[in-house]
Order: sequence, then structure tokens, then C-alpha cells
Amino acid sequence: MTQRTLSIIKPDAVQRNLQGAILKMIQDSGMKIVAMKMLQLSKDEARGFYAVHQDKPFFDSLTDYMSSGPIVVSILEGENCIEKYRDIMGATNPQNAQEGTIRKAYALDIEKNSVHGSDAPDTAEAEMAYFFSRMEMVG
Ligand code: CDP
Ligand code: MG
Repeated sequence: MTQRTLSIIKPDAVQRNLQGAILKMIQDSGMKIVAMKMLQLSKDEARGFYAVHQDKPFFDSLTDYMSSGPIVVSILEGENCIEKYRDIMGATNPQNAQEGTIRKAYALDIEKNSVHGSDAPDTAEAEMAYFFSRMEMVG
């Protein structure tokens, strides 16, 4: 099934100039980029994006970090791409990430883990709509 998912290259990765390297890993896997932009979230926008985690102990630190610098947000399209992109990202904690994954290669720690990917079709829809209008989806 062809799906779409939301990808974010997080502030730690953009700050280290890793956008190109990470996008290459995404594109080498065959997924197509159908929307993309660079922006910086406000603290409130980061809180809104991660609202599902608002009761977690890491929420305040996470939203400080996610609003600390520019991010690159994109929509990826491909066969089974929600799960496929999660596989390419690797585990949330880079210490548990498999060789060859983005987080194994680039993540700094469990918070500054370089990339985000939607985890299910319903969250993918909500997350794509959080960042992009229909007009910006060009694929
Ligand atoms: O990003 P992913 O879906 O793999 O993980 P999550 O459980 O949905 O958590 C969202 C984000 O919160 C992670 O990617 C980390 O940046 C951060 N996090 C954290 O700082 N400390 C944790 N113990 C768990 C997650
Ligand atoms: Mg998640």
C-alpha cells in the first residue's frame, strides 16, 4: 500500500549540517519526497506537535530542544513507508539502534536523536496537516 509519512530532521542534525546526509539515506531507500520546508518551531508549536507526550517527564526538555533551532520537515511517500521510515530511523534511544540506521549514525542521545517519523496512519495524517497545506504537497 502506498502511504505518506511525516519526517523531521531535528535541530541537533540541522545544526551539524546533516540535512543532505540524512535526505540521502531517505532517498537511497526509494522513498519519494513530496513536500519539504525548513522552519523553526516556537515553544508553543513544539508543545502542540508533541501534545501526545505532554504528561511525560521529558516533555519540557523535548519542546525546548525542538524549538531551539531550525528543522527540515518533509512528507515521504512510498510502499508501506510509515513502517519503512521507522525502520530506517532506528530505535528512539540510539544506544539500541541497529547498524545502518539514521539514529545509529547520527543521534547524540535519546532526546537529540536527529529525526522524527510518524508512527501510524492516523498520526501521519495529523502530523502532515500540522505542517503542510494541500497546496504544498507537490508529489
Ligand atoms: O521519536 P520516537 O517516536 O521514536 O519516540 P517517542 O517515544 O514518540 O518520543 C518522542 C521524542 O521524545 C523522541 O524522539 C525523543 O526526542 C524524545 N524522548 C526523550 O527525550 N526521552 C525519552 N525517554 C523518550 C523520548
Ligand atoms: Mg513517536
